[in-house]
Amino acid sequence: MAPSATFLALISTLVILTSPAHALPNAVAHRDAQDSCHCFPGDACWPAPDLWNAFNGSLGGRLIANTPIAAVCHHSTLFPYDAAACSVLQNTWFLPQTHFDSSSSMMASLPTNNSCNPFLDASAPCTMGNYPVYSVNATGPGDYQTTLQFAQAHNIRLVIRNTAADYNGKSSGAGSLALWTHHLKSKEILEYRSNGYSGTAFRFGAGVQVTEAYEFSLAHGHLVVGANVPEVGLVGGYSQGGGHGPLVSRFGLAVDQVLEWEVVLASGEVVVASPDSAEHADLHWALCGGGGGTYAAVLSATVKAHPSLILSTANLTFALPPTAQSPDAFWEGVRVFVEHIPAINDAGTQAIWYVEATAFNLATLFAPGFDKTALDALMQPFLDALDRLELPYSYASEQHPGFLEGFLQQPGTGAANLNIGGRLIPRTLAQSNGGSAALTAAIHSITSSSGVVFSGVTFNVSNHAPEHGVGINPYWRETIFSAVFGTFFDWTDWEKNQRSADTITNDLLPHLERLTPGGAAYLNECDFQQADWKTVFYGANWVRLSEIKSKYDPNGVFYALGAVGSEGWTQQVDGRLCRAT
Ligand SMILES: Cc1cc2nc3c(=O)[nH]c(=O)nc-3n(C[C@H](O)[C@H](O)[C@H](O)COP(=O)(O)OP(=O)(O)OC[C@H]3O[C@@H](n4cnc5c(N)ncnc54)[C@H](O)[C@@H]3O)c2cc1C
Ligand SMILES: *[C@@H]1O[C@H](CO)[C@@H](O)[C@H](O)[C@H]1NC(C)=O
Ligand SMILES: *[C@@H]1O[C@H](CO)[C@@H](O)[C@H](O)[C@H]1NC(C)=O
Ligand SMILES: *[C@@H]1O[C@H](CO)[C@@H](O)[C@H](O)[C@H]1NC(C)=O
Ligand SMILES: *[C@@H]1O[C@H](CO)[C@@H](O)[C@H](O)[C@H]1NC(C)=O
Ligand SMILES: *[C@@H]1O[C@H](CO)[C@@H](O)[C@H](O)[C@H]1NC(C)=O
Repeated sequence: MAPSATFLALISTLVILTSPAHALPNAVAHRDAQDSCHCFPGDACWPAPDLWNAFNGSLGGRLIANTPIAAVCHHSTLFPYDAAACSVLQNTWFLPQTHFDSSSSMMASLPTNNSCNPFLDASAPCTMGNYPVYSVNATGPGDYQTTLQFAQAHNIRLVIRNTAADYNGKSSGAGSLALWTHHLKSKEILEYRSNGYSGTAFRFGAGVQVTEAYEFSLAHGHLVVGANVPEVGLVGGYSQGGGHGPLVSRFGLAVDQVLEWEVVLASGEVVVASPDSAEHADLHWALCGGGGGTYAAVLSATVKAHPSLILSTANLTFALPPTAQSPDAFWEGVRVFVEHIPAINDAGTQAIWYVEATAFNLATLFAPGFDKTALDALMQPFLDALDRLELPYSYASEQHPGFLEGFLQQPGTGAANLNIGGRLIPRTLAQSNGGSAALTAAIHSITSSSGVVFSGVTFNVSNHAPEHGVGINPYWRETIFSAVFGTFFDWTDWEKNQRSADTITNDLLPHLERLTPGGAAYLNECDFQQADWKTVFYGANWVRLSEIKSKYDPNGVFYALGAVGSEGWTQQVDGRLCRAT
């Protein structure tokens, strides 16, 4: 679909009519109406430096010209080589903060496309690759509007970038301008009244991260639903795509919490979307689970407050016995755990667990609202089952002085240094008559592949769907865990990574797909090569989500890999984004 002449006229009008007082000097679109690709650096249509300077001026100097953070590790034209800085970077590369503090880096590995690899020799090339060329360090609606106008006027690819945690690099893009939301840190407590909810609520700016949201809500005697890890953004891809975490079996998913979204539309209009709003209830619905980065640019989300809870946690490990026993006992232990997942979830607790070829690790069992005695009692039937199998295990549990202390003490996951595949697992596969055995056999097969780690994050959100409805794939309501598995990334043998991604897609994920025909995957924890992704990510909601996307972003200003509307685009080998023909 090529942009119509009407669209171009509309955009020019928009730029003129809605530019704030510090308007761009005559930002005219220098571009062929037939051009079906975004303007790319080096193209004649790419804005000249004076236009970027004027744009920067209209943003009060908040435009950043990016260089890859690993440029310090290379002799390139982008940045001076600096051996000491490179060594520091190598030692901190796997910390999420290294990437979310930057205006351009990303936590994901394969989507970096090896364009500026900190672990290669200094003589290896360093280019922008998939990193955004410029970022706007946004502070509020004015910056959002100015950025959206500039991107449209000059036909530049726009990305919305929050923490850049996305496993598939959805918050990055070659030749792009990034709307960087990380510094929108506003936090507010309020009394909220609507048809569906009345009570305390919190309004969080787009850049607020999970720990900050927990801290702020707890300081006011409440809790909010957030992720298992501290660094993920609360309001961005997490709450727009699903959002599981320690509290979801008690209170629902992150998408079930949002009372209203304050957004800037592609047109530049600022609107508040809530289930009660006459005009934008559909947008609220889509943003609650229909995926980040595609319907509108979110400024803030107002979410339900929940009572503050005490927290106990437990962990448990067992391993394949070296010689004495057959591996059967180990896999029977895994199967028995799978059978216990419904009980763990239904009690309002959450398990984060890993299986490797020879080891099982329940890294954290989050038990909000439980004291240690109650948590141990919940786990006892599972421990008894392991005893009956004569499988040695190590179990520990603890009651924490407060939710935050317990949360921060758990082992983190670091940056996304993996190639992954994922699938949502339905409750039927935890049943002893067949289901749990078949699922365990699949886990066994997957982890038999060299270097694969399988993980599960459990929940029961069946009874938490809000009455007004949410756009998330309905399959979540029958799910007992999100399965994610992967192989660690190899930064020194790039081709190996594409091969291991292909193994995941073609050989390993099918073990779970065969068990879950017509099933689903969490769009935030998925294989970037997922076939049938429209139904796998969005299920029965695909059609309505597509309609809402067309209504709010008819010209495709917002794009992200695997997002609704992305089917209208193809990315060329050099990263250039073009309309699909
Ligand atoms: C270490 C790690 C741990 C994780 N743990 C959990 C977990 O416990 N539970 C869980 O459910 N998920 C978890 N995830 C997955 C997480 O939900 C996704 O990575 C999510 O996309 C992160 O959102 P973000 O906004 O922080 O990241 P980004 O990569 O910055 O953004 C992700 C997507 O959202 C869009 N987006 C961001 N901000 C906005 C905005 N203001 N308006 C519109 N679009 C926006 C971006 O364009 C992009 O498409 C984890 C991921 C990692 C890497
Ligand atoms: C934008 O302006 C600020 C302040 O003058 C400056 O520090 C910054 O380097 C400029 N950004 C670009 C991309 O030129
Ligand atoms: C990705 O890497 C390939 C192979 O080196 C290269 O041809 C392509 O241009 C790169 N794309 C980007 C966006 O860097
Ligand atoms: C972005 O803006 C914030 C203030 O809003 C500032 O603290 C931060 O240093 C800026 N970051 C960059 C890279 O310019
Ligand atoms: C397991 O839990 C105990 C008790 O909370 C804790 O002391 C220990 O560090 C945990 N082990 C791991 C590996 O996290
Ligand atoms: C969630 O728990 C309810 C009981 O409260 C149960 O009926 C339902 O089957 C459970 N759903 C899942 C997916 O485990």
